[in-house]
Formats: sequence, structure tokens, C-alpha cells
Amino acid sequence: MMTSASLTALAIIAALTPSVAAFLPKSGLFGGHQRLSSTNGALFASVDAAADLVSLSLSLTKPLGMLLEEVQDAAAEGVFVKELAETGSAREYQDQIVGAKLTEVQGLDVTTMSFDSVMEAIVAAPDTVDLQFLVKGSTAEAEAELTTFADGSPVTIRVQQDGQPDLVIDAKVGDNLRQTLLDNNFEVYQGIKQKLGNCGGNGQCTFCAVEGEWGAGWLERSEYEDTKLKKLNNPAARLACLNNIQGPATIRKAKR
Ligand code: FES
Repeated sequence: MMTSASLTALAIIAALTPSVAAFLPKSGLFGGHQRLSSTNGALFASVDAAADLVSLSLSLTKPLGMLLEEVQDAAAEGVFVKELAETGSAREYQDQIVGAKLTEVQGLDVTTMSFDSVMEAIVAAPDTVDLQFLVKGSTAEAEAELTTFADGSPVTIRVQQDGQPDLVIDAKVGDNLRQTLLDNNFEVYQGIKQKLGNCGGNGQCTFCAVEGEWGAGWLERSEYEDTKLKKLNNPAARLACLNNIQGPATIRKAKR
């Protein structure tokens, strides 16, 4: 029979959220800060010593939706991200942080803390919490990803328009790009076909595609967009309707 000492700590971080249950895995197995037996945890920070590990700082808004596990059973050696819930602000960083050790919470070094102490630090942190992880990847790639902006951060979206001055939009991180463009009177849909035949922001028609220079904070476009935008043969294009603003950008209507 498994003793409590042999259990590996896991937790969905949904602390201080309106509803913990809303962010739990569909199986409903995990909740709050309970402890469950470890299955196949994969901490690359310890198992791949040759990996190029660098720090990644993120400001994430609760609920985070992170499933954490102790680095070492019943030892004060911190925690790592075992997996991410379907929802939660951490989800969009899945490629970077699953398997990554959590190193700081609100500037506090948690690398030698017990699981419970790390949980307490997260619970005590404000709704938008600064977290730092030790992530894997080439230094150059990771540095490019280091810059992230908290939701609501002011950024500039410069929109280049044929034959007209640039439209300079004071935008906010987290706002939908298509809606921001529409709200600022940019003609997202050009020509009768796009005006009448667009999907209204459902990621189907591709008529909202914009291309440009995506500055700091922008992650790679999604695989879904890769597929939908294949015909445009333009890796710098994105579907405005499927992108929330992640940082500054200089964009224009995508050539078709
Ligand atoms: S509005 Fe149709 S794909 Fe974006």
C-alpha cells in the first residue's frame, strides 16, 4: 500500500480563482492541491543534463491551469510542470514549459522549496503572477521567447495601408487582433467577396489574414493556421481572428 511519503505531489494551480473545478482535467481526478501518485513525470531539467537550459519569465493570470509535481519525492527541491489543463493561462506556453522546473514565483526563489511551500507562494501571489521557469532550447530561441507581456500591457500595432499613412493603434496585449483592427477602422475585409463571404471571425475563411513583422512576445503561429494559410505560402501571415495580441507588431493586409 502506498504511503503518504511515497506519493508524489501534484496540483492544478487554480488558486484564488473563481472556480477551481472549471479548470480541472476532464477526468476530474485532480483538484486543489491534493497529492496523487506519480505516473510518468518528465523533468527534462534533471534527466537531460546536456540540454541547453535558460530562464523563461512569464506573467500569467490565474487560473494558470498547471499541473505541478515535486522534482524529488518528499524533498524540498522545488516543482516542475508536469502537464497543462485544457484551459488556463499557461496553456499557450505548452511547448516551452511542460517539463520545465519552476524557479521563481513573484521574484521568490522556489528551487529549494517543498511542494507545499511553492503552493503557498503561488496562492499568495497576485492574480497576475510573475513566474520563472528553467526551459530547454537553444539560448537564442529561448531569449527570443523571453519577452512576454502581461495581459492588458499597452503595445503598438502599426498597420501599413496601401496609398495611405500607417494606422498606429494603441493596443492591449490579450485583445483579439481582428477586433482591434475593426475597432480602429482598418478595412480587414477588402473587396465584395471578403465583405460578404467572411466567416465573422471563426477561423474558416482566411479573409482576415494579415502579414508583417511580429515583434517581441509573439509566439509561432498555430498549426491550424499553418494548414489554413497554406495557399498563401506566406509564413509571416496569421489569421487576425485567431490571434490575441501578444506584443507589438507592424502588419498589413496579407497578399493573396
Ligand atoms: S474572419 Fe474568417 S478566418 Fe478570420
